Amino acid sequence: MPLYHSLGSIPPKRHTQFRKPDGSLYAEELVSTEGFSSLYSLVYHAYPPTIVKTLGEPYSVEPKIAREKHLKHTSLIGFNVQPEDDYLQSRKPVLVNSDLHISLAAPRQSMTDYFYKNSQADEVVFIHEGTGTLKTGFGNIKFQYGDYLVIPRGTIYQMEFDGTANRLFIIESFSPIRPPKRYRNQYGQLMEHSPYCERDIKRPADLKTYDEHGDFKILIKKQGLIYPYIYGTHPFDFIGWDGFHYPWALSIHDFEPITGRLHQPPPVHQTFEGNNFVICSFVPRKFDYHPLSIPAPYNHSNVDSDEVLYYVDGDFMSRKSVVKGQITLHPGGIPHGPHPGSVEKSIGKESTDELAVMIDPFRPLMLTEDAIKIEDENYYKSWQY
Ligand SMILES: [Fe+2]
Repeated sequence: MPLYHSLGSIPPKRHTQFRKPDGSLYAEELVSTEGFSSLYSLVYHAYPPTIVKTLGEPYSVEPKIAREKHLKHTSLIGFNVQPEDDYLQSRKPVLVNSDLHISLAAPRQSMTDYFYKNSQADEVVFIHEGTGTLKTGFGNIKFQYGDYLVIPRGTIYQMEFDGTANRLFIIESFSPIRPPKRYRNQYGQLMEHSPYCERDIKRPADLKTYDEHGDFKILIKKQGLIYPYIYGTHPFDFIGWDGFHYPWALSIHDFEPITGRLHQPPPVHQTFEGNNFVICSFVPRKFDYHPLSIPAPYNHSNVDSDEVLYYVDGDFMSRKSVVKGQITLHPGGIPHGPHPGSVEKSIGKESTDELAVMIDPFRPLMLTEDAIKIEDENYYKSWQY
């Protein structure tokens, strides 16, 4: 996040002697991104973060592609993904390309006997159902319905859920996730016309130092494989840290909609961006107020991008029948638009309570075997009168 933050104890000058009460040195670590050219933080550990005890056998979690090329409006019933106890096993990649992987998950249990580190992608974990705490060495972030957790690559974390009924919509991005550039001034500050500002950003808090030796399993994801590592010290042994590289969160409920006299185009809903895709939030808002306005969207041809909508809550005005957790994929190359009847129905309406997350990837998405299992095969015919 382009916002400086610091927790715990750090020395007044970087790269200088910083000693424990017993006179030995703390271990400094630079966590940097895009080489040394982008956001970074300096972390002070109780012990060096390099004490590997053993390595396990790596195993593949690569998405299995079922439909590489297609040109069909597709719908997936997301809540048909079955709950599973384990967080990592519960994650089912459904739509993937070389820029991002989109997964659904319904984990029942907190991570207690291992830690997880995604070394290949930033993660955006959208909390559809459930509450809990994202635990990291940088500190903790409490989460609830509507939160986007943004976890930069390389962050070791655990998900602690308060209950067993959890539904997550997860985006893995192979480029850094960031607020849209047009909403930031030359110093990185979010500008007045941005739909959210720094006050809405939840940063880690409650840093607790785990000064512990033992066997600590970290499952590290890299190039589609999970590498089981056993480290000799607790990964959350941070004494303190400072910088711009850390996990953070934004609630979709804090995204302030931009409205107008006429139908506003999708970019007003943009919340985050990565390379070759954007993430948007459709939130409850007043409808267009021109006396002849049509609140429902016009038909549109996505010539250059696919369009994924994940329906979260409310009555989605342009669709005939959608259910919570449903995903629609409207591929680039053919038009799509409101369902029959929804244009007339929208006229005169003053507001909508729809809540949805949209992803527009500029490269085509492939469907996985897990996606095919939850597909509504007749969706492409749903515009027939
Ligand atoms: Fe659309």
